[in-house]
Amino acid sequence: MTILLLGSGGREHTFAWKMAQSKRCSRLFIAPGNAGTATCGENVALDPLDFAAVGQFVLKNAVEMVVVGPEEPLVRGIWDYFQETDALKNIPVIGPSKAGAVLEGSKAWSKKFMERHKIPTAAYREFTSEGVEEGVQYLKQQPLPIVLKADGLAAGKGVIICQSHQEAEQEFRDMLDGKFGAAGDRVVIEAFLSGIEFSVFVLTDGKTYKILPEAKDYKRIGERDTGPNTGGMGAVSPVPFVDETMWQKVEERIIAPTVKGLRKEKIVYKGFIFFGLIEVQGEPYVIEYNCRMGDPETEVVLPRLKNDLVQLFENCAKGTLGRVRIRADKKFATTIFLVSGGYPDQYEKGKIMTGLEQVKESLAFHAGTRVQGDGVVTNGGRVLALTSLAKDMESALRKSRRNAKVVQFEGKYYRRDIGKDLENL
Ligand code: AMP
Ligand code: GLY
Repeated sequence: MTILLLGSGGREHTFAWKMAQSKRCSRLFIAPGNAGTATCGENVALDPLDFAAVGQFVLKNAVEMVVVGPEEPLVRGIWDYFQETDALKNIPVIGPSKAGAVLEGSKAWSKKFMERHKIPTAAYREFTSEGVEEGVQYLKQQPLPIVLKADGLAAGKGVIICQSHQEAEQEFRDMLDGKFGAAGDRVVIEAFLSGIEFSVFVLTDGKTYKILPEAKDYKRIGERDTGPNTGGMGAVSPVPFVDETMWQKVEERIIAPTVKGLRKEKIVYKGFIFFGLIEVQGEPYVIEYNCRMGDPETEVVLPRLKNDLVQLFENCAKGTLGRVRIRADKKFATTIFLVSGGYPDQYEKGKIMTGLEQVKESLAFHAGTRVQGDGVVTNGGRVLALTSLAKDMESALRKSRRNAKVVQFEGKYYRRDIGKDLENL
C-alpha cells in the first residue's frame, strides 16, 4: 500500500525506516521529512498542519494510509478533517480524533479524565485569569517545589518546576498573562512527585491495546541531568527497574483504565498513547499523556519491535489489534543524540555533516538534517540519533558512544552519560 507519514524528526525517520521494511508498504511518502527519511521513501514539501493540502496530496497520489508522527496535527484535528471530507473518510489516519488528542492537548482535561477514572497522578488545581488571586493564595499553601503547567501545547516548554513561592507566584501570573500565548489561559498547579521517570507506549484500536517496549529518555542538556530541558538527549529500552510487579501495576491501574475510560466516554482513539510515568516508592503515577509516540523513545522502541509495523497499523485501523501478539527483541537498545552547539538556546544550522558512512554497528536516525547538494547539513537543534542494540546496556551504549565520535559537524555536542544512572539501581 501507499503510505504518507507526517513529520520530520528522529521519530519519523525511525517510523519510515521500520515501515520501509514491510512487504505491505509499496510506496512511502514523508512530509516534510529530513535527509534520513529521504533514504526510506520520498520526501514531499507539505505542511502537516495544512490539512487541505495533505488531503489533496493523498487523493492525487492514491495514498491508502496516513500515519501522523507529531502531536500538533492530531490536537488540531487531522483525523476529524479526514472523517468530515467525503473523498477522504475511508482513508485511515493512524492517530486519535481531536477529542482523543486532548489527552495531550489539554493538561487540565487530562487531569480531570484521570480523576474520573481513578488513575493515579499528582494532586492538582486549575485556574484561569478569573481566579488569579485565589490561585496565588493556593500556591502560598503548597509545599515546595511547585509544578506549574500551561494547559495547552507549548512546544515542550509549558512545565515549570518552581523552587520558591516567590518564583511560583511570578511564573503563575506570567503564564496567565500570556507568556505561552493561549496555551497558558488555563494553568494547572500540581504537586511535585519525586522519583524516577519512564515511558510506556501502547497502540490501541479503541477496543483493545497492545503494549510496546518501555523506554527511559534523558531530557536535560547536561550530564548527570543538569541544565535546561531539551527535546531529549538520549534513551534506553528496556528500563531495568521496570520489573514484572511494576508492569502489572502500570497495566491494571493506568493502561487498562485509560483505554476503557476513552471507550466509555465514546472518544474515538486509534493510535498511540504515550504514558509519561514516574515511580514513587514502588508505585507508578502518570506525569503526562501524549497522543503520539515519544522522541527519542521511538528510536529505541521500534528497533526492538519484531512485528511488521504496517501490519500493526492496518490492524489498528480495522479494529483487529486483538489478534496481534507483540514480539520484542530481548536485546537492549540505546540511543545518543548529537545536538547543535548552543542548543536548547540559540544555535546555528547549515553545518556540514561528515562521517555518516563510517557509522558501524549503529543506526543513524536523522532529526534536524537536510540534504544539500551531495551531502547532509544540520537543520535543527537535535540533529542525529545513534541507536545501537546489544545483549547488555553497556555494550549498546559503547557502540552509540563510539559512533557519536565518528560523525562530525561544527559545534557537535552529546551526553556521554546516557544510561549511567541505571547501572547501579
Ligand atoms: P511535560 O511537559 O508534561 O512532559 O513535563 C516535563 C517534565 O516536567 C516531566 O518530564 C517531568 O520531569 C517534570 N514534571 C512534570 N510534572 C511533574 C510532577 N508532578 N512532579 C515532578 N516532575 C514533574
Ligand atoms: N520524550 C518525550 C516526548 O516525546 O514528549
